[in-house]
Amino acid sequence: MKYRKIYDLSYANKIKEYSIKNNRTFTYYIETMGCALNENDSMKYMGILEQAGMTRTSIIDNANVIVFNTCAVRENAEDKLFGRIGMLKKQKKTSKECIICVVGCMSEQNHVIDKIKKSYPFIDIALGTKAMDIFTEKLYKCITDRVKTRDNTIGEGLLLEEVPIVYQDKYRASVSIIYGCNNFCSYCIVPYVRGRERSRMPEDIIKDIEKLAKDGYKEITLLGQNVNSYGNDFSDEYLNYNFVSLLKDISKIDGIDIIKFVSPHPKDFSDELIEHIAVNNKISRLIHLPLQSGSTKILSAMNRKYTKEQYLALAIKMKEKIKDIAFSTDIIVGFPGESEKDFEDTLDVVRTIGFDMIYMFCYSIRRGTRAEKMPNQIEESIKVNRLETLKKVYEEILNSKNDEKIGTVENILVEGKSKNNDLKYTGRTKDNKVVIFDAFKEDVGKILKIKIVENNKWYLTGEIQR
Ligand code: 5AD
Ligand code: SF4
Repeated sequence: MKYRKIYDLSYANKIKEYSIKNNRTFTYYIETMGCALNENDSMKYMGILEQAGMTRTSIIDNANVIVFNTCAVRENAEDKLFGRIGMLKKQKKTSKECIICVVGCMSEQNHVIDKIKKSYPFIDIALGTKAMDIFTEKLYKCITDRVKTRDNTIGEGLLLEEVPIVYQDKYRASVSIIYGCNNFCSYCIVPYVRGRERSRMPEDIIKDIEKLAKDGYKEITLLGQNVNSYGNDFSDEYLNYNFVSLLKDISKIDGIDIIKFVSPHPKDFSDELIEHIAVNNKISRLIHLPLQSGSTKILSAMNRKYTKEQYLALAIKMKEKIKDIAFSTDIIVGFPGESEKDFEDTLDVVRTIGFDMIYMFCYSIRRGTRAEKMPNQIEESIKVNRLETLKKVYEEILNSKNDEKIGTVENILVEGKSKNNDLKYTGRTKDNKVVIFDAFKEDVGKILKIKIVENNKWYLTGEIQR
Protein backbone atom coordinates (compact mmCIF):
# COMPACT_ATOMS: atom_id res chain seq x y z
CA MET A 1 0.00 0.00 0.00
CA LYS A 2 1.84 3.04 -1.23
CA TYR A 3 0.40 5.60 1.20
CA ARG A 4 0.58 3.54 4.39
CA LYS A 5 3.10 4.32 7.10
CA ILE A 6 3.44 3.30 10.75
CA TYR A 7 3.62 6.53 12.75
CA ASP A 8 7.23 7.16 13.75
CA LEU A 9 7.33 7.97 17.45
CA SER A 10 11.08 8.57 17.62
CA TYR A 11 10.83 12.38 17.72
CA ALA A 12 8.04 12.24 20.30
CA ASN A 13 10.35 10.07 22.41
CA LYS A 14 13.24 12.48 21.82
CA ILE A 15 11.12 15.36 23.13
CA LYS A 16 10.37 13.32 26.23
CA GLU A 17 14.06 12.52 26.78
CA TYR A 18 14.98 16.16 26.19
CA SER A 19 12.47 17.42 28.73
CA ILE A 20 13.66 14.95 31.38
CA LYS A 21 17.33 15.73 30.73
CA ASN A 22 16.83 19.50 30.78
CA ASN A 23 14.29 19.47 33.56
CA ARG A 24 11.69 21.21 31.42
CA THR A 25 8.04 20.33 31.68
CA PHE A 26 5.66 20.79 28.79
CA THR A 27 1.96 21.37 29.14
CA TYR A 28 -0.16 21.49 26.00
CA TYR A 29 -3.45 23.10 25.14
CA ILE A 30 -5.37 22.06 22.02
CA GLU A 31 -8.34 23.73 20.39
CA THR A 32 -10.28 22.11 17.56
CA MET A 33 -12.27 23.88 14.91
CA GLY A 34 -14.50 22.20 12.37
CA CYS A 35 -15.75 18.74 11.67
CA ALA A 36 -15.62 15.27 13.22
CA LEU A 37 -12.55 14.45 11.13
CA ASN A 38 -10.71 17.31 12.74
CA GLU A 39 -11.88 16.19 16.19
CA ASN A 40 -10.43 12.80 15.36
CA ASP A 41 -7.14 14.33 14.18
CA SER A 42 -6.98 16.35 17.41
CA MET A 43 -7.25 13.18 19.47
CA LYS A 44 -4.23 11.93 17.51
CA TYR A 45 -2.30 15.15 18.23
CA MET A 46 -3.15 14.63 21.90
CA GLY A 47 -1.84 11.07 21.72
CA ILE A 48 1.38 12.21 20.06
CA LEU A 49 1.95 15.06 22.54
CA GLU A 50 1.30 12.77 25.50
CA GLN A 51 3.73 10.26 24.04
CA ALA A 52 6.20 13.18 24.08
CA GLY A 53 5.65 13.40 27.84
CA MET A 54 3.38 16.44 27.82
CA THR A 55 0.28 16.86 29.96
CA ARG A 56 -2.89 18.52 28.78
CA THR A 57 -4.42 21.65 30.22
CA SER A 58 -7.76 23.20 29.38
CA ILE A 59 -6.46 26.63 30.42
CA ILE A 60 -4.58 28.23 27.57
CA ASP A 61 -2.57 30.55 29.87
CA ASN A 62 -1.07 27.53 31.62
CA ALA A 63 0.22 25.93 28.42
CA ASN A 64 3.65 26.24 26.89
CA VAL A 65 2.63 24.34 23.75
CA ILE A 66 -0.54 25.63 22.11
CA VAL A 67 -2.08 23.79 19.16
CA PHE A 68 -4.89 25.11 16.99
CA ASN A 69 -6.31 22.41 14.75
CA THR A 70 -8.02 24.51 12.11
CA CYS A 71 -10.86 24.21 9.61
CA ALA A 72 -11.02 25.90 6.20
CA VAL A 73 -14.56 25.00 5.16
CA ARG A 74 -16.06 28.40 5.96
CA GLU A 75 -14.46 31.82 6.11
CA ASN A 76 -15.53 32.82 9.62
CA ALA A 77 -13.26 30.13 11.10
CA GLU A 78 -10.26 31.96 9.65
CA ASP A 79 -11.29 35.27 11.21
CA LYS A 80 -11.89 33.52 14.52
CA LEU A 81 -8.48 31.83 14.47
CA PHE A 82 -6.51 34.98 13.78
CA GLY A 83 -8.52 36.82 16.43
CA ARG A 84 -7.57 34.14 19.01
CA ILE A 85 -3.94 34.17 17.93
CA GLY A 86 -3.76 37.97 18.05
CA MET A 87 -4.74 37.71 21.71
CA LEU A 88 -1.93 35.23 22.34
CA LYS A 89 0.71 37.65 21.17
CA LYS A 90 0.96 39.14 24.65
CA GLN A 91 1.50 35.75 26.24
CA LYS A 92 4.20 35.01 23.69
CA LYS A 93 6.06 38.20 24.56
CA THR A 94 6.14 37.36 28.25
CA SER A 95 6.94 33.68 27.83
CA LYS A 96 9.71 32.74 25.43
CA GLU A 97 8.96 29.09 26.09
CA CYS A 98 5.48 29.20 24.63
CA ILE A 99 5.26 27.41 21.27
CA ILE A 100 2.28 28.16 19.05
CA CYS A 101 1.26 25.63 16.39
CA VAL A 102 -1.39 25.97 13.70
CA VAL A 103 -2.21 22.62 12.13
CA GLY A 104 -5.11 21.29 10.05
CA CYS A 105 -6.88 22.41 6.91
CA MET A 106 -6.12 26.16 7.02
CA SER A 107 -2.38 25.56 7.12
CA GLU A 108 -2.63 23.82 3.74
CA GLN A 109 -3.56 27.14 2.12
CA ASN A 110 -0.92 29.45 0.59
CA HIS A 111 -2.59 32.65 1.70
CA VAL A 112 -2.73 31.43 5.32
CA ILE A 113 0.98 30.57 5.38
CA ASP A 114 1.75 33.98 3.82
CA LYS A 115 -0.44 35.73 6.39
CA ILE A 116 1.25 33.87 9.26
CA LYS A 117 4.75 34.78 8.05
CA LYS A 118 3.83 38.40 7.42
CA SER A 119 1.42 39.31 10.21
CA TYR A 120 1.80 36.58 12.84
CA PRO A 121 5.53 35.75 12.74
CA PHE A 122 5.47 34.56 16.36
CA ILE A 123 3.62 31.41 15.23
CA ASP A 124 6.27 28.69 15.45
CA ILE A 125 4.75 25.81 13.52
CA ALA A 126 2.18 25.84 10.73
CA LEU A 127 1.76 22.45 9.07
CA GLY A 128 -1.22 21.14 7.13
CA THR A 129 -3.26 17.95 7.28
CA LYS A 130 -0.83 16.13 5.02
CA ALA A 131 2.09 16.67 7.40
CA MET A 132 0.96 15.10 10.68
CA ASP A 133 3.85 12.63 10.52
CA ILE A 134 6.39 15.48 10.38
CA PHE A 135 4.86 17.41 13.27
CA THR A 136 6.94 15.92 16.12
CA GLU A 137 10.21 16.35 14.22
CA LYS A 138 9.46 20.05 13.68
CA LEU A 139 8.27 20.45 17.27
CA TYR A 140 11.50 18.87 18.52
CA LYS A 141 13.56 21.31 16.43
CA CYS A 142 11.53 24.18 17.77
CA ILE A 143 11.96 23.06 21.37
CA THR A 144 15.69 22.41 21.11
CA ASP A 145 16.86 25.09 18.63
CA ARG A 146 13.91 27.51 18.29
CA VAL A 147 13.60 26.58 14.60
CA LYS A 148 10.28 27.70 13.13
CA THR A 149 8.46 25.73 10.39
CA ARG A 150 5.62 27.41 8.53
CA ASP A 151 5.29 25.39 5.37
CA ASN A 152 2.41 23.91 3.36
CA THR A 153 4.63 22.23 0.80
CA ILE A 154 5.86 19.41 3.02
CA GLY A 155 3.92 16.27 3.86
CA GLU A 156 2.55 13.58 1.58
CA GLY A 157 -0.79 12.86 3.25
CA LEU A 158 0.28 9.35 4.18
CA LEU A 159 -2.14 6.98 5.88
CA LEU A 160 -0.60 6.94 9.32
CA GLU A 161 -1.19 3.79 11.31
CA GLU A 162 -0.68 3.05 15.00
CA VAL A 163 -0.88 6.71 15.94
CA PRO A 164 -1.43 6.97 19.69
CA ILE A 165 -4.90 8.39 20.21
CA VAL A 166 -6.56 9.88 23.28
CA TYR A 167 -10.30 9.27 23.07
CA GLN A 168 -12.53 11.80 24.80
CA ASP A 169 -15.31 9.42 25.71
CA LYS A 170 -15.50 5.98 27.34
CA TYR A 171 -18.12 4.28 25.19
CA ARG A 172 -18.25 6.13 21.89
CA ALA A 173 -15.29 6.46 19.54
CA SER A 174 -14.69 7.67 16.01
CA VAL A 175 -12.42 5.94 13.50
CA SER A 176 -11.27 7.49 10.21
CA ILE A 177 -11.63 5.07 7.32
CA ILE A 178 -10.93 7.28 4.29
CA TYR A 179 -9.10 10.57 3.89
CA GLY A 180 -9.53 13.21 1.19
CA CYS A 181 -12.21 13.77 -1.43
CA ASN A 182 -12.43 13.42 -5.21
CA ASN A 183 -15.77 15.15 -5.70
CA PHE A 184 -14.89 18.80 -6.12
CA CYS A 185 -18.26 20.25 -5.18
CA SER A 186 -17.84 23.74 -6.57
CA TYR A 187 -18.16 25.52 -3.18
CA CYS A 188 -15.86 23.22 -1.23
CA ILE A 189 -12.23 23.66 -0.22
CA VAL A 190 -11.80 20.11 1.12
CA PRO A 191 -10.36 18.44 -2.02
CA TYR A 192 -7.73 21.19 -2.12
CA VAL A 193 -6.70 20.94 1.54
CA ARG A 194 -7.15 17.24 2.20
CA GLY A 195 -6.14 15.86 -1.18
CA ARG A 196 -7.52 12.89 -3.10
CA GLU A 197 -9.28 9.88 -1.57
CA ARG A 198 -7.07 7.41 0.29
CA SER A 199 -8.74 4.46 2.01
CA ARG A 200 -7.18 2.80 5.04
CA MET A 201 -6.53 -0.91 4.77
CA PRO A 202 -9.43 -2.98 6.15
CA GLU A 203 -7.13 -4.88 8.56
CA ASP A 204 -5.87 -1.63 10.07
CA ILE A 205 -9.40 -0.39 10.69
CA ILE A 206 -10.60 -3.72 12.09
CA LYS A 207 -7.57 -3.93 14.40
CA ASP A 208 -8.34 -0.46 15.80
CA ILE A 209 -12.00 -1.28 16.35
CA GLU A 210 -11.23 -4.65 17.94
CA LYS A 211 -8.98 -2.83 20.39
CA LEU A 212 -11.69 -0.26 21.11
CA ALA A 213 -14.21 -3.07 21.71
CA LYS A 214 -11.78 -4.71 24.13
CA ASP A 215 -11.44 -1.39 25.97
CA GLY A 216 -15.23 -1.29 26.44
CA TYR A 217 -16.29 0.95 23.54
CA LYS A 218 -19.77 0.15 22.29
CA GLU A 219 -20.43 2.74 19.60
CA ILE A 220 -18.20 3.44 16.62
CA THR A 221 -18.57 6.29 14.13
CA LEU A 222 -16.76 5.70 10.85
CA LEU A 223 -15.39 8.92 9.42
CA GLY A 224 -14.52 10.14 5.98
CA GLN A 225 -15.28 13.01 3.63
CA ASN A 226 -17.13 10.51 1.52
CA VAL A 227 -17.37 7.19 3.38
CA ASN A 228 -19.24 5.35 0.67
CA SER A 229 -16.32 5.86 -1.71
CA TYR A 230 -14.36 3.67 0.69
CA GLY A 231 -12.24 1.20 -1.26
CA ASN A 232 -12.63 2.87 -4.68
CA ASP A 233 -8.85 3.36 -4.66
CA PHE A 234 -8.14 -0.32 -3.90
CA SER A 235 -6.64 -2.68 -6.45
CA ASP A 236 -5.45 -6.30 -6.64
CA GLU A 237 -6.67 -8.51 -3.80
CA TYR A 238 -8.87 -5.72 -2.35
CA LEU A 239 -10.40 -4.72 -5.68
CA ASN A 240 -13.90 -5.77 -4.66
CA TYR A 241 -13.66 -4.73 -1.01
CA ASN A 242 -16.00 -1.76 -0.49
CA PHE A 243 -17.82 0.15 2.24
CA VAL A 244 -20.41 -2.63 2.64
CA SER A 245 -17.62 -5.22 3.04
CA LEU A 246 -16.16 -3.06 5.80
CA LEU A 247 -19.52 -2.63 7.56
CA LYS A 248 -20.01 -6.41 7.47
CA ASP A 249 -16.58 -7.04 8.98
CA ILE A 250 -17.01 -4.41 11.70
CA SER A 251 -20.42 -5.83 12.63
CA LYS A 252 -18.76 -9.15 13.45
CA ILE A 253 -16.70 -7.54 16.23
CA ASP A 254 -18.08 -8.57 19.62
CA GLY A 255 -18.92 -5.66 21.89
CA ILE A 256 -19.62 -3.10 19.17
CA ASP A 257 -23.37 -2.61 19.26
CA ILE A 258 -23.88 0.67 17.41
CA ILE A 259 -22.24 1.67 14.11
CA LYS A 260 -22.60 5.14 12.62
CA PHE A 261 -20.94 6.78 9.64
CA VAL A 262 -20.45 10.33 8.34
CA SER A 263 -20.61 11.46 5.63
CA PRO A 264 -21.88 9.46 2.71
CA HIS A 265 -22.52 11.13 -0.65
CA PRO A 266 -26.02 10.56 -2.08
CA LYS A 267 -24.61 9.83 -5.54
CA ASP A 268 -22.66 6.85 -4.14
CA PHE A 269 -25.45 5.40 -1.97
CA SER A 270 -25.75 2.01 -3.65
CA ASP A 271 -28.61 -0.48 -3.47
CA GLU A 272 -26.14 -2.90 -1.92
CA LEU A 273 -25.56 -0.43 0.92
CA ILE A 274 -29.29 0.14 1.43
CA GLU A 275 -29.97 -3.62 1.48
CA HIS A 276 -27.19 -4.11 3.99
CA ILE A 277 -28.36 -1.38 6.37
CA ALA A 278 -31.85 -2.87 6.21
CA VAL A 279 -30.63 -6.18 7.64
CA ASN A 280 -27.87 -4.95 9.95
CA ASN A 281 -29.40 -3.82 13.21
CA LYS A 282 -26.12 -2.54 14.58
CA ILE A 283 -26.17 0.33 12.08
CA SER A 284 -27.74 3.52 13.39
CA ARG A 285 -31.10 4.35 11.85
CA LEU A 286 -30.13 8.01 11.59
CA ILE A 287 -28.46 8.30 8.20
CA HIS A 288 -26.69 11.50 7.24
CA LEU A 289 -27.56 12.31 3.64
CA PRO A 290 -26.14 15.72 2.71
CA LEU A 291 -28.63 17.55 0.51
CA GLN A 292 -26.82 20.92 0.15
CA SER A 293 -29.67 22.32 -1.98
CA GLY A 294 -33.10 21.14 -3.13
CA SER A 295 -32.88 22.94 -6.45
CA THR A 296 -31.72 20.91 -9.44
CA LYS A 297 -30.29 24.07 -11.02
CA ILE A 298 -28.21 24.87 -7.93
CA LEU A 299 -27.21 21.22 -7.42
CA SER A 300 -25.83 21.22 -10.93
CA ALA A 301 -23.89 24.44 -10.29
CA MET A 302 -22.63 22.85 -7.08
CA ASN A 303 -21.44 19.79 -9.06
CA ARG A 304 -23.34 17.46 -6.75
CA LYS A 305 -24.21 15.00 -9.55
CA TYR A 306 -27.84 14.41 -8.52
CA THR A 307 -31.12 16.23 -9.11
CA LYS A 308 -33.86 17.13 -6.64
CA GLU A 309 -35.91 14.20 -7.96
CA GLN A 310 -33.02 11.74 -7.68
CA TYR A 311 -32.36 12.78 -4.09
CA LEU A 312 -36.03 12.41 -3.17
CA ALA A 313 -36.26 9.04 -4.94
CA LEU A 314 -33.21 7.80 -3.03
CA ALA A 315 -34.58 8.93 0.35
CA ILE A 316 -37.99 7.40 -0.40
CA LYS A 317 -36.39 4.10 -1.46
CA MET A 318 -34.39 4.08 1.79
CA LYS A 319 -37.53 4.79 3.84
CA GLU A 320 -39.27 1.86 2.16
CA LYS A 321 -36.41 -0.57 2.70
CA ILE A 322 -35.03 0.46 6.10
CA LYS A 323 -37.44 0.26 9.02
CA ASP A 324 -37.40 3.28 11.38
CA ILE A 325 -34.94 5.23 9.24
CA ALA A 326 -34.42 8.92 9.97
CA PHE A 327 -32.28 11.42 8.09
CA SER A 328 -29.93 14.19 9.01
CA THR A 329 -28.50 16.52 6.40
CA ASP A 330 -26.30 19.49 5.48
CA ILE A 331 -27.81 22.46 3.67
CA ILE A 332 -26.12 25.54 2.24
CA VAL A 333 -28.28 28.62 1.66
CA GLY A 334 -27.32 31.50 -0.59
CA PHE A 335 -25.14 29.66 -3.11
CA PRO A 336 -24.38 31.95 -6.10
CA GLY A 337 -27.45 32.28 -8.32
CA GLU A 338 -29.89 30.85 -5.73
CA SER A 339 -33.28 32.48 -6.40
CA GLU A 340 -36.31 32.50 -4.09
CA LYS A 341 -37.70 29.68 -6.23
CA ASP A 342 -34.51 27.64 -5.74
CA PHE A 343 -34.70 28.20 -2.01
CA GLU A 344 -38.36 27.12 -2.05
CA ASP A 345 -37.19 23.87 -3.67
CA THR A 346 -34.87 23.35 -0.70
CA LEU A 347 -37.73 23.94 1.75
CA ASP A 348 -39.87 21.57 -0.29
CA VAL A 349 -37.32 18.75 0.09
CA VAL A 350 -36.91 19.56 3.79
CA ARG A 351 -40.69 19.24 4.33
CA THR A 352 -41.02 16.13 2.18
CA ILE A 353 -38.20 14.23 3.90
CA GLY A 354 -38.77 15.62 7.40
CA PHE A 355 -35.12 15.69 8.44
CA ASP A 356 -34.42 14.89 12.08
CA MET A 357 -31.32 17.03 12.13
CA ILE A 358 -30.18 19.79 9.77
CA TYR A 359 -26.72 21.31 9.82
CA MET A 360 -27.34 24.57 8.00
CA PHE A 361 -24.85 27.05 6.65
CA CYS A 362 -24.76 30.32 4.78
CA TYR A 363 -22.69 29.91 1.65
CA SER A 364 -19.15 31.12 2.31
CA ILE A 365 -16.89 32.03 -0.57
CA ARG A 366 -13.70 29.93 -0.61
CA ARG A 367 -10.58 31.01 -2.42
CA GLY A 368 -9.59 28.76 -5.30
CA THR A 369 -12.95 26.97 -5.61
CA ARG A 370 -15.06 27.15 -8.78
CA ALA A 371 -17.94 28.90 -7.04
CA GLU A 372 -15.63 31.77 -6.09
CA LYS A 373 -15.69 32.95 -9.68
CA MET A 374 -19.43 32.44 -10.23
CA PRO A 375 -21.60 35.47 -11.02
CA ASN A 376 -24.68 36.39 -8.94
CA GLN A 377 -23.13 36.00 -5.49
CA ILE A 378 -25.93 36.47 -2.95
CA GLU A 379 -26.07 39.35 -0.51
CA GLU A 380 -25.28 38.46 3.09
CA SER A 381 -28.66 39.73 4.41
CA ILE A 382 -30.56 37.46 2.01
CA LYS A 383 -28.48 34.47 3.12
CA VAL A 384 -29.20 35.22 6.78
CA ASN A 385 -32.95 35.59 6.12
CA ARG A 386 -33.05 32.28 4.26
CA LEU A 387 -31.18 30.60 7.11
CA GLU A 388 -33.77 31.94 9.58
CA THR A 389 -36.62 30.66 7.42
CA LEU A 390 -35.00 27.24 7.13
CA LYS A 391 -34.49 27.15 10.89
CA LYS A 392 -38.18 27.83 11.52
CA VAL A 393 -39.30 25.09 9.13
CA TYR A 394 -36.83 22.71 10.75
CA GLU A 395 -38.06 23.49 14.27
CA GLU A 396 -41.66 22.77 13.25
CA ILE A 397 -40.61 19.38 11.88
CA LEU A 398 -38.53 18.63 14.96
CA ASN A 399 -41.41 19.38 17.27
CA SER A 400 -43.87 17.12 15.52
CA LYS A 401 -41.28 14.33 15.20
CA ASN A 402 -40.50 14.54 18.91
CA ASP A 403 -44.20 14.29 19.71
CA GLU A 404 -44.40 11.11 17.62
CA LYS A 405 -41.71 9.53 19.82
CA ILE A 406 -43.70 9.86 23.02
CA GLY A 407 -44.71 6.43 24.31
CA THR A 408 -42.14 4.53 22.23
CA VAL A 409 -39.50 2.31 23.86
CA GLU A 410 -35.92 2.00 22.62
CA ASN A 411 -32.66 0.31 23.56
CA ILE A 412 -30.38 3.19 24.58
CA LEU A 413 -26.74 3.26 25.64
CA VAL A 414 -26.44 5.08 28.98
CA GLU A 415 -23.56 7.43 28.22
CA GLY A 416 -23.20 9.12 31.61
CA LYS A 417 -24.41 12.14 33.52
CA SER A 418 -26.28 14.80 31.53
CA LYS A 419 -24.13 17.86 30.85
CA ASN A 420 -27.00 20.26 31.53
CA ASN A 421 -28.61 18.50 34.46
CA ASP A 422 -26.29 16.50 36.67
CA LEU A 423 -29.18 14.84 38.51
CA LYS A 424 -30.07 13.01 35.28
CA TYR A 425 -28.32 10.60 32.95
CA THR A 426 -28.18 10.81 29.18
CA GLY A 427 -28.17 8.70 26.03
CA ARG A 428 -29.37 8.87 22.43
CA THR A 429 -32.19 7.25 20.50
CA LYS A 430 -31.35 5.28 17.36
CA ASP A 431 -32.07 8.45 15.39
CA ASN A 432 -29.62 10.36 17.59
CA LYS A 433 -32.01 12.41 19.72
CA VAL A 434 -30.67 13.21 23.17
CA VAL A 435 -32.72 11.62 25.96
CA ILE A 436 -32.34 12.38 29.66
CA PHE A 437 -33.62 10.08 32.40
CA ASP A 438 -33.14 8.95 35.99
CA ALA A 439 -30.61 6.15 36.37
CA PHE A 440 -27.97 4.70 38.69
CA LYS A 441 -24.21 5.08 38.35
CA GLU A 442 -23.99 1.34 37.65
CA ASP A 443 -26.20 1.78 34.55
CA VAL A 444 -23.52 3.78 32.71
CA GLY A 445 -22.16 1.84 29.72
CA LYS A 446 -25.19 -0.48 29.62
CA ILE A 447 -27.82 -0.57 26.88
CA LEU A 448 -31.23 -0.30 28.57
CA LYS A 449 -34.87 -0.14 27.48
CA ILE A 450 -36.06 3.45 27.82
CA LYS A 451 -39.57 4.78 27.28
CA ILE A 452 -39.87 8.32 25.87
CA VAL A 453 -42.26 10.36 28.00
CA GLU A 454 -41.75 14.04 27.16
CA ASN A 455 -40.79 16.34 24.27
CA ASN A 456 -38.53 19.19 25.38
CA LYS A 457 -37.73 20.46 21.85
CA TRP A 458 -33.94 19.99 21.84
CA TYR A 459 -34.04 16.82 23.93
CA LEU A 460 -36.47 14.16 25.14
CA THR A 461 -37.20 12.90 28.64
CA GLY A 462 -37.33 9.14 29.17
CA GLU A 463 -37.92 6.48 31.82
CA ILE A 464 -35.92 3.27 32.17
CA GLN A 465 -38.11 0.17 31.87
CA ARG A 466 -36.67 -2.16 34.50
N1 5AD B 1 -19.89 27.47 2.44
C1 5AD B 1 -20.82 27.01 3.31
N2 5AD B 1 -20.90 25.74 3.71
C2 5AD B 1 -20.00 24.89 3.20
N3 5AD B 1 -19.83 23.56 3.39
C3 5AD B 1 -18.77 23.16 2.67
N4 5AD B 1 -18.24 24.19 2.00
C4 5AD B 1 -19.00 25.27 2.31
C5 5AD B 1 -18.97 26.63 1.92
N5 5AD B 1 -18.07 27.10 1.08
C6 5AD B 1 -20.73 22.75 4.22
C7 5AD B 1 -21.39 21.65 3.39
C8 5AD B 1 -20.69 20.41 3.88
C9 5AD B 1 -20.40 20.77 5.32
C10 5AD B 1 -19.35 19.96 5.98
O1 5AD B 1 -20.00 22.13 5.25
O2 5AD B 1 -22.76 21.61 3.72
O3 5AD B 1 -21.47 19.25 3.77
FE1 SF4 C 1 -16.58 18.94 -0.02
FE2 SF4 C 1 -18.29 17.79 -1.73
FE3 SF4 C 1 -16.05 16.47 -0.96
FE4 SF4 C 1 -18.06 16.85 0.79
S1 SF4 C 1 -18.18 15.63 -1.10
S2 SF4 C 1 -15.85 17.17 1.17
S3 SF4 C 1 -18.84 18.86 0.20
S4 SF4 C 1 -16.13 18.35 -2.16
